[in-house]
Amino acid sequence: TYLGIDIGTSGVKALLIDERGRALGEASAAAVEPVRPHPGWSEQNPSDWWTATLAAVDKLRASHPSELASVRGIGLSGHMHGATLLGKNDEVLRPAILWNDGRSAAECKEMEAALPNLRQLAGNIAMPGFTAPKIAWVCKHEPVIFDKIEKVLLPKAYVRLLLTGDYVEDMSDAAGTLWLDVAKRDWSDELLAVTGLNRSHMPRLVEGSAPSGSLRRELAQRWGMDANVVVAGGAGDNAASAAGIGAIRPGEGFVSLGTSGVLFVSNERFSPNTEGAVHAFCHAIPDTWHQMGVILSATDSLNWLSRITGQKQAELSGVAEAQFTGPGEEIFLPYLSGERTPHNNAGARGSFVGLSHSTDTAKLAQAVMEGVTFAFRDSQRVLSDAGTKIDRLLAVGGGSKSALWLKLIATNLDMEIALPEDGDFGGALGAARLGLCAAEGASPQTVMTMPPIKTVIAPDRSLSAAYSDQYARYRALYPAIEEARS
Ligand code: XUL
Repeated sequence: TYLGIDIGTSGVKALLIDERGRALGEASAAAVEPVRPHPGWSEQNPSDWWTATLAAVDKLRASHPSELASVRGIGLSGHMHGATLLGKNDEVLRPAILWNDGRSAAECKEMEAALPNLRQLAGNIAMPGFTAPKIAWVCKHEPVIFDKIEKVLLPKAYVRLLLTGDYVEDMSDAAGTLWLDVAKRDWSDELLAVTGLNRSHMPRLVEGSAPSGSLRRELAQRWGMDANVVVAGGAGDNAASAAGIGAIRPGEGFVSLGTSGVLFVSNERFSPNTEGAVHAFCHAIPDTWHQMGVILSATDSLNWLSRITGQKQAELSGVAEAQFTGPGEEIFLPYLSGERTPHNNAGARGSFVGLSHSTDTAKLAQAVMEGVTFAFRDSQRVLSDAGTKIDRLLAVGGGSKSALWLKLIATNLDMEIALPEDGDFGGALGAARLGLCAAEGASPQTVMTMPPIKTVIAPDRSLSAAYSDQYARYRALYPAIEEARS
């Protein structure tokens, strides 16, 4: 059997699969939610990831002892970009600064000024979500801590260190640091130098489907496993989800309606589009890349509306669906925590426009779901500017439970969206599959298959013209509102 461990921002999930990739059992443990000590900041203690990892696997040990004991390979998936700073003897120097932390906007500008060809080298814009600008912030504001840095690890590399004793990172997650030459799949000395670091501060690089080390003896004993359990490179949570839903060939992708929203597509080649704030990263398997449009508040926008109206998210999407007749007057810009794609603006903020006396919560909910949908449409536009044609999209994430939301997305992206059958096809499954590849040398193409599909949602062409008009209004609002706010 093989074990996938997905280190999420709100908890850790451990999933067991057999050699044919079928799920045998899973267990989760909640992590302490990130804290926001200042507006726009987001931090978490690395020790919480480890506590939750041990708790999740211990639970699997209790519920599936014999299946866990026969684990031969482990794969890791993790939330991306988080800066975990280690000093001497692997001492954690400060709380990790997470992917949704926007404090380093000034440092992003300074890095791009200091290295004018940064965008070409990295294939990505310096965005506050990425790791390198966070270190530039630490260098400026916490110099004593900066001077003590021996290693910078991403969240799952920190968990791997405790699992195996090795400093190793996989290509897909490493690409999100802004220190990787993404085309060459190697650290870039020039990019590292912009933040005062060098290769000695970085973990060793491996492909996601390759071995990265083996499980420490005492942990193998704790979980009843043999010695020599292989730990795979694994993947950032988005590339891992792609491995889980079988999106590894060019043009295959997914739309993820989670806290953040992601439009993910696999590419044969490294395909940057920095103008459109596209994320152009390595995939979790060799010689493969991927692009993403990332929107920072997807279901989190509905979550916000739910908080201020006191109605549950499912109720809100339910009333919106019940009275839906097409786009209304209300338009929502979902930039509650700034935006990455396509604006790269941590200071952007959300808006409701077009309110009237007849605006009720159902209409607000519809506008929120439409606003998030338009943000995906923006991402599709900039991916297509980079020459990408999306052939197949599966929907994943909590928001994909809403039939209306999926219809809005299919209609606006003007393509069919496939919804997998119930079950877990996220990062933990992808990670377990990478563990299988690393342990057995199996080919990713045979392991990373598509899950059974429950329904295929087609675009509603009777609404296409009305939504193209509404999308044009949505696009015009951002520059106008930003100008008024500045
Ligand atoms: C991707 C990103 C998020 C996190 C969430 O660039 O920041 O999707 O990986 O876990």
